[in-house]
Amino acid sequence: MMENERMKTTHFDRDFPVNNKVITRELLEKEYPGYLRHVKNAFEAGQIHIFRWWNEITASEKKNLLDQVSTIDFGLIKKVFNDAVLKPARTSRDNLTPPPIITFPKKDAEKEMAHKAKLAGEISLQKGEIAILTVAGGDGTRLGINGPKGTFLITPITRKSIFQLHAEKIVAAQKRYNTRIPWYIMTSKSNDSATQNFFKMHNFFGLNSHQVCFFTQDMVPVVDLQGNVMMDSKSNIIMSPNGHGGALVALKEKNVLNDMKRRGIKNIFYHQVDNILVKIADPVFIGHHMRDSSEVSLKIVKKCDPEEKVGIVVYIDGNLHMIEYSELSRKDMYEKNENGTLKYHAGNIAVHMINIDFLEKVYQSGESLPYHAAIKKVPYLDDDGNVIDPKQNNAIKFESFIFDILKYVKKSVIMEVLREDEFSPIKNMEGENSPETSRQDMVNQFGRWLRNIGVSIPVDARGNVIGLIEISPCFAMDEEELKNKVDKQLQFNGKLLL
Ligand code: UTP
Repeated sequence: MMENERMKTTHFDRDFPVNNKVITRELLEKEYPGYLRHVKNAFEAGQIHIFRWWNEITASEKKNLLDQVSTIDFGLIKKVFNDAVLKPARTSRDNLTPPPIITFPKKDAEKEMAHKAKLAGEISLQKGEIAILTVAGGDGTRLGINGPKGTFLITPITRKSIFQLHAEKIVAAQKRYNTRIPWYIMTSKSNDSATQNFFKMHNFFGLNSHQVCFFTQDMVPVVDLQGNVMMDSKSNIIMSPNGHGGALVALKEKNVLNDMKRRGIKNIFYHQVDNILVKIADPVFIGHHMRDSSEVSLKIVKKCDPEEKVGIVVYIDGNLHMIEYSELSRKDMYEKNENGTLKYHAGNIAVHMINIDFLEKVYQSGESLPYHAAIKKVPYLDDDGNVIDPKQNNAIKFESFIFDILKYVKKSVIMEVLREDEFSPIKNMEGENSPETSRQDMVNQFGRWLRNIGVSIPVDARGNVIGLIEISPCFAMDEEELKNKVDKQLQFNGKLLL
């Protein structure tokens, strides 16, 4: 630690010290031309300790470390650490109001409105104006599988992967609307090749390989609780993906937005890879978004209890915001409407429509999404070069969140959907939001579809279907389609695969 402190206070005028030895600028420039300014950036931000094993590592490791250093904006990391950790931003709670919401249609007029939206959405799909954007760059630490989350085998009977399930929804929508729907998948450096190989190995699940486009988000260094960049070997800085908000930068920098425009895309259907029930390319949602000339639209579900750990969509001073459950005061959390329902109930399920022209306007403004700090437990190399597996949280990962884009939004649509129909994320290996709960949610949904068309399906005391049901999106995308394909005399004997 003392060594680190000493390094930070030395001026970067000629040489820089590494474990009491000195690397001359001349030598660095001669042997590794072009890196000096990046090393200087690290030095000026107080991060020169990342070179403390410089004299022990091989030439190729030196080159790798310098390559890594050249991708890092050390000044930004310093600023983000100070902003996010030392002075956590608090959103003003004055003038908090619930936003206007298109509620789940129950009355005839509401159903009529949904029907009109659906027709508009279907036309846009037919015209090929919609692309799907799946963010799949996260580390999936809580699930803890070996490989990208999307490769997890999830369906109740045939054990299709999450990626296959999403792909088949796209295949089915293409068939229904006689169109082609480009699919953009954001990965990170850690899972990009595994993801792409998985698609190749499975022949893109029936999609054309040219319509599936992968792009990577940026990585940012992980820092310790004092803001020092951490390493997991003598030549490797620990990096993590920069959050789903990283999609915003990557869409532009990786030329994805131009590719979308070239294909005639006008709006993006955004979702997260781990929501098993997501209604990909839902025409009703697309239609509402388009008919209201919305810039960004959101699907929400009613919070199931006041303390549910879900982000809440609100207006603050008349502007749309998504706030974390932890940022809502207890009073606001429990506040009720006159009819006894929760006042702030709009739980964000991270399904959005995003208008491409709006994105361009955001890029032109030159602004970027803020970083949020998440405190995590991360194995690292200590000053003596020992690998430490910490017992407690010891590190900060920085992530930007896609919903922070809402601060630029003037026109939006917020549409309520039913949780049991559209939201079942996989976060943990066991317990809530796990593969087990998601499989049950799928089976229950298929059970409801069948029951609604007259097939008898037994349920237990908690309303869970007794038995297994799996319906491929290619057989039926929804209840309406199923109705035309299934005889209501069908006898359910505990296992049904369609
Ligand atoms: P989560 O925040 O739940 O993260 O991501 P995660 O990576 O899946 O799991 P943990 O937190 O490490 O356990 C929600 C969605 O956002 C994507 C994820 O892939 C998931 O679809 N995401 C998250 C990214 O694409 N990039 C990121 O940097 C973070």
